[in-house]
Amino acid sequence: MLTLPELPRTKNYKAIAVLTSGGDAPGMNAAIRAVVRYALANGVEVHGVTKGYSGLIEGDMQPMTASSVANIIQRGGTILKTDRCAAFFKKSVRQEAANLLRRKGIDALVVIGGDGSFRGAHLLEKENDFPTIGIPGTIDNDIAGTEDTIGFDTAVNTAIESIDKIRDTASSHDRIFIVEVMGRSSGFIASQVGLGGGAETILVPEKKVSVPEVARTIERGMKRGKSSSIIVMAEGEKPGLSYRVAEALEKRGYSAKVCILGHTQRGGVPTAHDRLIASAMGASAVAYLLAGKSDGMVAIQSNELKLVPFKIMADGKKKLPLDILKLAQILAT
Ligand code: F6P
Repeated sequence: MLTLPELPRTKNYKAIAVLTSGGDAPGMNAAIRAVVRYALANGVEVHGVTKGYSGLIEGDMQPMTASSVANIIQRGGTILKTDRCAAFFKKSVRQEAANLLRRKGIDALVVIGGDGSFRGAHLLEKENDFPTIGIPGTIDNDIAGTEDTIGFDTAVNTAIESIDKIRDTASSHDRIFIVEVMGRSSGFIASQVGLGGGAETILVPEKKVSVPEVARTIERGMKRGKSSSIIVMAEGEKPGLSYRVAEALEKRGYSAKVCILGHTQRGGVPTAHDRLIASAMGASAVAYLLAGKSDGMVAIQSNELKLVPFKIMADGKKKLPLDILKLAQILAT
């Protein structure tokens, strides 16, 4: 169980703002609830910004109360809405946003999102001396500096549930299926879904595997009596790559069906795990701000909550542990 860091209060903030940015992730609502309720419990007002940085630029924000976050802990998506805001890449836009927050009497900002959102948050603070803190919320779990992100566990569970269903039809028809999962250029979702779903092959951007190798794995399975096979594949830069793998397998005499799970992985009721980390991260984000700490992301490292500077997070790509692929292969053959 995660415990909140014990931090002495050094800031007498009156009000903070909170927004969600980038792709939504199940558990973001639990994080919003924790930010609002923990801040109110410490005598700090909270303003909820609608639609990420786009809403921030337009000053679209409302005061939140304990009851405005009632009944949301179990809901997927984000009640604050979200988007990907290209305008926030501009320095002048970030300066205007900081001025606007100050005019509204807001002392600090909480950003719930992924690494792209945190790059904007880091620049907002650095250029304008405006305290900003991040809470990692993305199904991809691809943020360097934290072992876990809000939404990842739910997405993995959703995808595994789908694979269980696909396995039924794959074995009834003696078919090969390529199941494409989200994660863009990182293979965290694919590797965990592949291992947990019992896939025969896992294809991730971090490790090149040739089509002949995939074909050999299918062949080995067939030799020991397997009549169906599941290949879990990370989407890569653009969804649909799995069709190219299916075509290449077809040329070698293996017919494969493609199933792209897509945005189903982003929705749904957050798992207990995601609700728990969202609650702990939301509360500690406020605790860090009130202790005068910012320009960083609340992270989980060895089951402890930490504050990782945005700079460190932005400098490295999170490394996928490749031994999980080896294990999946051993267990599937
Ligand atoms: O970053 C989260 C994510 O769900 C990726 O896995 C996926 O590639 C991308 O967002 C899809 O984004 P959008 O919904 O904007 O198409």
